[in-house]
Amino acid sequence: MKVSSKPSLTWEILTSRADRPRQEVFPLNTGRCEYFYSARYALAAALDALKLAPQQSILMPSYNCWVEVEPVVRSGAKIDWYRVKTDFSIDEDDLLARIRPETAVIFVIHYLGFPQRLENIRRVCTERGIVLIEDCAHALLSNDGDIPLGSMGDMAIFSIRKTVPITDGGCLLINNPAFSVKRPRSVRPNRFVTYFVASEMLAGGTTTDAQRLGQMVFLCNLAVARFVRIGLKGIHKILQDRGDYLVYPSGNNFREYAKNWGMSDISAAIVRGSDFSRIKELRRANFLYLLEKLKNEERCMLPIHSLPKGVCPLFFPVIVRDRDRVYRELKDRGLSGHNWWGDFHSAVPWDSFPDAVYLKENVFGFPVHQDVVINNLDKMLATFNKCL
Ligand SMILES: Cc1ncc(COP(=O)(O)O)c(C=O)c1O
Repeated sequence: MKVSSKPSLTWEILTSRADRPRQEVFPLNTGRCEYFYSARYALAAALDALKLAPQQSILMPSYNCWVEVEPVVRSGAKIDWYRVKTDFSIDEDDLLARIRPETAVIFVIHYLGFPQRLENIRRVCTERGIVLIEDCAHALLSNDGDIPLGSMGDMAIFSIRKTVPITDGGCLLINNPAFSVKRPRSVRPNRFVTYFVASEMLAGGTTTDAQRLGQMVFLCNLAVARFVRIGLKGIHKILQDRGDYLVYPSGNNFREYAKNWGMSDISAAIVRGSDFSRIKELRRANFLYLLEKLKNEERCMLPIHSLPKGVCPLFFPVIVRDRDRVYRELKDRGLSGHNWWGDFHSAVPWDSFPDAVYLKENVFGFPVHQDVVINNLDKMLATFNKCL
């Protein structure tokens, strides 16, 4: 058995995507989304749209991935940081205390799809003319009660590829008509990158032992893709061209020339055919199963103790000592979880935010995505228990 930390792209999803009825889901049904290669480029476009003056600043959460900090640093904006508590909630008092006359933007992250309390922050933003950006990279399909996350900010970004098995895809939702994005129309990611990422996903998905043999075809295809990649790399080197033959939508990448890339046709078609209510139902059921199993476990801590109505969880977090060893031991057995956010962006004054450092060093995530079944979770729990 192999468990992937992300939803798997299967041959069936790739080929039957056009037949399914279109699902209408927020924010894709608003008609106000601009699509990008991934959410980091959606954020870069949001910052371009703001046209900040040099003295203006952005208030950002100290607990962050790295990837959402990079576009802000590149935009040249000044950044102030606020505290996030170890239960993933914003320290609202700290945030409000750090607002200065120069604060032009407040940036909030709905970690793992769980809603931040934004009523007060929204009110302050409106009163003081501050732009609110919601980072919903983890929160596609998540609601705060009946309100979809991403609908309170002036703008919101979503990383669609974290919830749906697509090669690439993020979007910017603009709620405030004062802002608009201007970019050349319809720049597609190059075909090689879509083929390469799809090949990796097809070969690397969650599989049972019985499916292992069938996976050989995809492993062979991936070997071909890697071979072509080496060839292309060589050609680009000879031509002394920086090249866009392979830009991952994931990892700690930010390529200026990918800023205008949209979502690939393949990804758009898969999104159109996705059964979003089933995805959400399965993720919630897996989360609740793990919650039941781990709620009394004394050798790890749960930063989140319940699954409120409307939340579509990204994964199930536990705080565990020696997180990286736990992650590796599971991974060595083909069971991939998340060693969540090990990268520290140099722009953040980490010494001032011990809680953020604590989360970055100790959070492990069990996958709860739509391909994970109880059998997978039981196997992961058994190995996890041994590690503890
Ligand atoms: C909080 C947060 N914001 C933004 C992003 C960027 O999303 P993407 O990888 O689609 O560019 C990520 C991705 O890891 C993230 O975790």
